[in-house]
Amino acid sequence: MIGRLNHVAIAVPDLDAATNLYANGLGANVSTPQALPEHGVTVVFVELSNTKVELLEPLGEGSPIAKFLESNPSGGMHHICYEVEDIVSAREKLISQGARVLGDGNPKTGAHGKPVLFLHPKDFAGTLVELEQV
Ligand code: CO
Repeated sequence: MIGRLNHVAIAVPDLDAATNLYANGLGANVSTPQALPEHGVTVVFVELSNTKVELLEPLGEGSPIAKFLESNPSGGMHHICYEVEDIVSAREKLISQGARVLGDGNPKTGAHGKPVLFLHPKDFAGTLVELEQV
């Protein structure tokens, strides 16, 4: 059901510092910051030849990554995103197998303008999983 690895996401306390680390320290291409108020984060993408790394910084009150950064003050791996062809059929299949979808269960528009869903980490080997329809 899942296809390619779309990205690995790292939550960071300081997006400018993390961008500098990847752009200048590691010599990668990093996109310009994009504010996603609906998701409570500002993101940049580190563009690699085979995938992307998403750097996330909290945006606004009650950001969904605020608690994660309280527990991991220097940042850390937050989620992994797999591509699917049909997000609604993937969701139905996973729910029928007992998996939990976060939020109201409906796809939201993600950072690439495409539908995304998040799956409960306790159902996926302790990892928050994002599905993105491509
Ligand atoms: Co993501």
